[in-house]
Amino acid sequence: MAQRETWTTRAGFVLAAVGSAVGLGNIWQFPFKTAENGGAAFVLVYLLAAVLIGLPTILGEFAIGRRAKLNAVEAFDRLDHPAWTVVGGLGLFTGLWILSYYSVVGGWVIRYTIGSLTGGYFGGTAAYFGAVSAGWEAIAFHALFMALTAGIVAFGIEDGIEKATKLMVPSVVLMLVGLAVYAFTLDGSGPAYSYYLSPDMDYLANNLGSVIPFAVSQAFFSLSLGMGAMITYASYLSDDDSLPADGGLVVGLNTLIGVLAGLVVIPLLFVQFSQIPETAAGGGPGALFVSVAQVFGGLGITGRILGALFFFVVLIAALSSAISLLEVVTAYCVDRYEWNRMATAFGFGGVLFLLGTLSAWDTAWLGWFDTLAYSVLLPASVLLGVIFVGWVYGPEAVEEMEKGADGAGQYATLWIWWLRTVVFVGVLVTLYLGVTSIYA
Ligand code: PHE
Ligand code: NA
Repeated sequence: MAQRETWTTRAGFVLAAVGSAVGLGNIWQFPFKTAENGGAAFVLVYLLAAVLIGLPTILGEFAIGRRAKLNAVEAFDRLDHPAWTVVGGLGLFTGLWILSYYSVVGGWVIRYTIGSLTGGYFGGTAAYFGAVSAGWEAIAFHALFMALTAGIVAFGIEDGIEKATKLMVPSVVLMLVGLAVYAFTLDGSGPAYSYYLSPDMDYLANNLGSVIPFAVSQAFFSLSLGMGAMITYASYLSDDDSLPADGGLVVGLNTLIGVLAGLVVIPLLFVQFSQIPETAAGGGPGALFVSVAQVFGGLGITGRILGALFFFVVLIAALSSAISLLEVVTAYCVDRYEWNRMATAFGFGGVLFLLGTLSAWDTAWLGWFDTLAYSVLLPASVLLGVIFVGWVYGPEAVEEMEKGADGAGQYATLWIWWLRTVVFVGVLVTLYLGVTSIYA
């Protein structure tokens, strides 16, 4: 077998992992799921989920990936637990499922980058979103986004993925801070802050059964867990790296960027609608493309430039996430069957393009794909992974966690017990509530 590539620097890995984590989940999905699930109550549960459940889980995936130094499916084989390759397989399937519609939204972002330059949506963002989010145009831009994703993956780790993510994080933070400050100065944004930042405990108590599964699954989606992405990326990692330090950084930055995006989108929703709108186009998947776009639309020529810049940065964030989804299956086929990297990336890209045309044709399909991913696939896949790391692979996982971790290594045993108890129960409850919500 050919010498396996590794990240050229530690920063390369952290940036790529952050690049995978930070994406449409933070900037597009987190704000509208917050708006749909009671505001600050959701934010509170999400923050708890990210730290108490997301962080220990991401460390588990890092430990699998680095020890096996192999793709997310065969990793389980290499660790001498071949029966558990089914976990890798489920993760791979979940990732492909998600990429099919993720790419559709990525296509919208390309459309809006261009639409900003031409002022295309300046006449009315809601009508524009209705026109471009579904149908032939959506399919065309979905194709373009998928082709870009496959193109980067085809170039491999060093030349493609590592380089694409270097500038993304600072630009995302900068743009979101700027927009958040601007939103703060607008008339009518006031009530948004209590909605977003001060949890309504009665709401929480009455809706715990829906807030918990949504928030926990959002944390998984947002941290790229349960899809083999973090296993795959960590497989290119060297042994002197500190997994706890890297995990903390990824979780911290990812959470920060989600919270920032909410500070932009929620106030702008209030400015435009004076409340959280009931309509799907205004408050749901359309929130980013209707409310934020509206701001640019009101700023004339400045708005064109700012809008194009903003959506371009969102595009980079979406791409660096999408490539990590496609990389999972590509790494598997290249490692296992020695397939040609370019052909594999474009082959799967083509198949997923076809699957995604459903979501691009009608946003009801997109919602259905998303619901199934959130309610069933993600928690199921993460649960199996947690059982594997906690019980089957426990002692080795602890050893792997201690490697290169300096002082943090002494908490490795605590970590494994946390995984076996709190995380296990949390994910189990999430899966149960998710599955039952589908039949509700
Ligand atoms: N975490 C990414 C986001 O928030 C989505 C993603 C999920 C990417 C899984 C890779 C793997 O947008
Ligand atoms: Na994310």
